[in-house]
Amino acid sequence: MRIVLLGAPGSGKGTQAQRLQAKYGVPQVSSGDLLRDAVARGTELGRKAKVVMDAGQLVSDDIVLGLIRDRLARPDAANGFILDGFPRNIEQAKLLSALLAEIGQPADAVLLLDVRRPTLIERLAGRRTCPKCGTVYNVHSLPAGVAQCSKDGETLHQRPDDREEVVRERLEVYAQKTQPLVEHYTKQGLLRTVAGEGTLDEVFERMEAAALAKPVSASKVKVRIEPSPAGKSGAAPRRPKAKRKSRPQRRTVAKRAKSVRKPVAKVASRKRRPKANKKVAKRAARRVKRALRAR
Ligand code: AP5
Repeated sequence: MRIVLLGAPGSGKGTQAQRLQAKYGVPQVSSGDLLRDAVARGTELGRKAKVVMDAGQLVSDDIVLGLIRDRLARPDAANGFILDGFPRNIEQAKLLSALLAEIGQPADAVLLLDVRRPTLIERLAGRRTCPKCGTVYNVHSLPAGVAQCSKDGETLHQRPDDREEVVRERLEVYAQKTQPLVEHYTKQGLLRTVAGEGTLDEVFERMEAAALAKPVSASKVKVRIEPSPAGKSGAAPRRPKAKRKSRPQRRTVAKRAKSVRKPVAKVASRKRRPKANKKVAKRAARRVKRALRAR
C-alpha cells in the first residue's frame, strides 16, 4: 500500500492514517508530525519551522522534502507508506513524484478526504493529542472529564495551531496552495475522493475501499483527459478504417471525396430492414391464402 492522503486541516488524515497503519502495517509518514518532532527536540530546523507553523503557513519545500526523504529511507517504509500532509502544493507534488520514482515506489493512489468547512472548524476546536504517542482524540467524543491518553496516561494537549485565528489561516492556505493538487492528481488518474463525514468506522471503510480499489490504467486516463492532435486542432476525429472500406478501388479522387458520406447511407439502408420484412410477410400471406384455397 503506497498512498497519499489529501484533505483540509481537520479532515481526518492523521486519524485515518493511524488506523490504516494499524491494520496494514505500513507506516504513517506525516510531515506535520515530523516537523512537530523537530520542534519538540529544539533542533535548528525545528526552531525555524515553529514560527511558520504557529502562523498557519507552510514550511519551506526543501525542509519538508528533506524530512520526508529521510523518513521514506527507513526500513519500515520499504513495503509501503501512508503519506499524510505531504505534498501540500504543486511544487511538492513534483518533488514527491521525482523522489518516489528515484526509490522505485510510485504512489498507488491519492485519497482526498472531503469534509465541509463547519465540520472542519468544529473538529479542530475539539482536537486533543497525546504529546507522547501522538494519538489523536476529540473532546466531542471523549467521555466527560477524560483528559488522559488511553494508551500511556499522558495528559492530552491542544495543538498551538488549533487556535481559532490560526485555523482560519490554515484553511485559507489549504484553499490557495493545496486544493490545486486535486486537479493535478485527477489528471494523473490517481485521485479518489472519499466522503470524510460520518463515524470513524464508516470513514475508515470508505478509505479502505478507495485505497484497495483497482488502479485506473495510465493509458485509459490518457484517452479520457488528453485531447488527441485532431481534437486540439478542432478537426473531427477520423473514422476507424474498417468502416470506410467497401469503396470500389478504381474511383477517382473526386468520386472518393463524394463517397465519404456513403457508408452512412449504407448503414442507414441496412437499417431499413422492415421493408424486406414486409415483402417476406406479404409472400407468407400469399402462401397462406393459396393453401386455404387449395383445401
Ligand atoms: P499537519 O499536522 O499536517 O496539519 P493539517 O494538514 O492541517 O492537518 P491536521 O493534522 O490539522 O488534520 P487531520 O486531517 O490530520 O485531522 P485529524 O485526523 O487530526 O500540519 C501542521 C502544520 O505543519 C502546517 O500548518 C504547516 O505549517 C506544517 N506542515 C505540515 N506539512 C507540511 C508540508 N508538506 N509543507 C509545508 N508545511 C507543512 O482530525 C482532526 C480532529 O477531528 C481530531 O480531533 C479527530 O479525532 C477528529 N475526527 C477525525 N475524523 C472524525 C470523524 N469521522 N468524526 C468525528 N471526528 C473526527
